Amino acid sequence: MSTPDHDRLLIIDFGSQVTQLIARRLRELNVYCEIHPFNLVDDAFLDAFDPKAVIFSGGPASVFADGAPMPPASVFERGVPILGICYGQQVMMHCLGGQVDRGHGTAEFGRAFVTPARSKLEILDGWFETDQDREQVWMSHGDHVSRIAPGFEVYGTSPNAPFAITADTSRRFYAVQFHPEVHHTPNGAKLYENFVRLAGFKGDWTMGAYREEAVARIREQVGGGRVICALSGGVDSSVAAVLIHEAIGEQLTCVYVDHGLMRKNESEQVVGMFREHYNLPLIHADESDLFLGKLEGVSDPETKRKIIGGLFIDVFEKYANEIGGADFLAQGTLYPDVIESVSFSGGPSVTIKSHHNVGGLPERMNMQLVEPLRELFKDEVRALGRELGLPDSFIGRHPFPGPGLAIRCPGEITRQKLDILREADAVYIDQIRKHGLYDEIWQAFVAILPVRTVGVMGDGRTYDFACALRAVTSVDGMTADYYPFSHEFLGETATRIINEVPGINRVTYDITSKPPGTIEWE
Ligand code: XMP
Repeated sequence: MSTPDHDRLLIIDFGSQVTQLIARRLRELNVYCEIHPFNLVDDAFLDAFDPKAVIFSGGPASVFADGAPMPPASVFERGVPILGICYGQQVMMHCLGGQVDRGHGTAEFGRAFVTPARSKLEILDGWFETDQDREQVWMSHGDHVSRIAPGFEVYGTSPNAPFAITADTSRRFYAVQFHPEVHHTPNGAKLYENFVRLAGFKGDWTMGAYREEAVARIREQVGGGRVICALSGGVDSSVAAVLIHEAIGEQLTCVYVDHGLMRKNESEQVVGMFREHYNLPLIHADESDLFLGKLEGVSDPETKRKIIGGLFIDVFEKYANEIGGADFLAQGTLYPDVIESVSFSGGPSVTIKSHHNVGGLPERMNMQLVEPLRELFKDEVRALGRELGLPDSFIGRHPFPGPGLAIRCPGEITRQKLDILREADAVYIDQIRKHGLYDEIWQAFVAILPVRTVGVMGDGRTYDFACALRAVTSVDGMTADYYPFSHEFLGETATRIINEVPGINRVTYDITSKPPGTIEWE
């Protein structure tokens, strides 16, 4: 709760899988919002947060269940607009004197069409204007509302949801059975836009404002202390570093640890970009001999990761000590990593996902954390990066894992295999860029396989490595689909790799989605 100057919207999370999408839709409207699990929202919390509007998320529970998730009763007395979604609608009806019935025969899942039931409702501006007076929506509910609460009226129905859209306009309470935040409710964003407009939000959550406030907050937190930051070249750590540098200048030192597992020319590009454009104190720690030496003969994926993680901490600590230590460690932690999510296994409980890129270090070195991106989603970090002047080519880079090429080289890692992999990866990415596909793909890379296969080139027999191309689309890396390249693209790329990269004579394309696969090979 660190943005007191902005109007704030509170999303009370009842455990829906798509609660984060509500926050995305609102942030796109320049509205500042936070997600908090229902069991942490009490009267004192509401007073402290002082929301200008509230949204109840969906959720998997039933209002009939023992200890069913509920908001504090006082939320209805604050005089602020409330929007209930799916389970949020049922909660609203349950709390305000309506009735909810169990699912039997009326559960709905998937696409449905809502038609208007009465005259226009302010949150439906722009709805029912085309397509024969109906709107496509996405339903996913078991229980359903069977009687609406006093004061509410019905504004939209679907074949299985007679109370698809309901409202008590005098109190500005709105409740819908469907999920306006998902892509499959094509006009859903409009509904949120209308809701925040009628709630009086000014739309003042902009990256320019965020930048100024974040700089002030960093100065206040750090005072005259020293901050150290592990710069990986990824978007998050880069944006965090540039922002902190803007706030405290030379009190920040960045360490770029080169573990010898970076892609072709990557270290030069990252270090060069920072030295040329930002003039921030940056140590380029070339520790490739150390990492590759310790990885020699190791082929188990988890052992590789542990070795790399442990060495990273040792190396970072060594350089931190060299500059005389630091009071703070900067990290590019994002909002999805810190949202406290609702878990219904074994009753309502709170799981806190925390993501420490250099886990273990703060305790070992007795440092506090500076995490200036904790309130942002990935695309907001990109917007902030642009605001801070980072080049688009840098901001749009595909994610690259901390253990680097080690996990793209299944089996034993050798310098020879890494060199071949770097070349093949460079050709592949060049192809993707030349065909204008880079920004459509979430992540693309080559893995070098631990097998040699027989081939024929010119008049000679070859016995070289096989490689696999990987390209996926994804939103957050949690699930992914393989990218449907054309056969022409794949054929052309395979030919280029085999012609241009000595050591590879066979190219395959990985068409596994996640799940069941993972994006990386190890
Ligand atoms: P997987 O392979 O688990 O990867 O489907 C999901 C996303 O996470 C990245 N990844 C990592 N990133 N440190 C990181 O910073 C890691 O150890 C790591 N392992 C996987 C992966 O590249 C993909 O974007």
